[in-house]
Amino acid sequence: MYEWLKAFHLVAVISWMAGLLYLPRLFVYHCTAEPGSRQSETFKVMERRLLRFIMNPAMIATWLLGLWLAWQGGWFAAPWLHAKLALVLALSGFHGLLARSVKDFAADKNRRSPKFYRMINEIPTVLMILIVILAVVKPF
Ligand code: HEM
Repeated sequence: MYEWLKAFHLVAVISWMAGLLYLPRLFVYHCTAEPGSRQSETFKVMERRLLRFIMNPAMIATWLLGLWLAWQGGWFAAPWLHAKLALVLALSGFHGLLARSVKDFAADKNRRSPKFYRMINEIPTVLMILIVILAVVKPF
């Protein structure tokens, strides 16, 4: 049972991460499209669908399966899990920031530059590396 939970936890994590890494890339391209153009409208559909049908369910599944694993494995007192939870909270905050940008783009109200979206693309990468090290190596 525990190994099955872990397998599906990882499937959810991979799906969530794919979106967290790809959506800011879409924003970089969307910034260069003229508001109201066909290209801009296509980006809106891609962004909305990615967020609604992949990223939101994947984030919820990651959390539920992760908490279930922690309960089943008796990990709640482990310091590595506390550190991991703090970083996953930051990752969830980043998800919230992207969701707000999807709304801004949908209303043609984006004020941020392509450079901004290129820079914030590094945030989920760094968080992911630290989270995976904590989960696998459990250094403390
Ligand atoms: C949402 C909150 C999360 C909780 C509560 C959580 C909790 C857990 C727990 C308890 C385990 C089992 C550890 C073990 O059996 O050794 C686990 C495994 C794992 N988690 Fe998470 N996790 C969460 C999110 C994430 C995220 C966002 C990532 C990656 C970005 C991630 C990556 C992993 C990996 C790679 C493993 C496999 C570790 C191994 O078997 O060596 N988790 N998680």
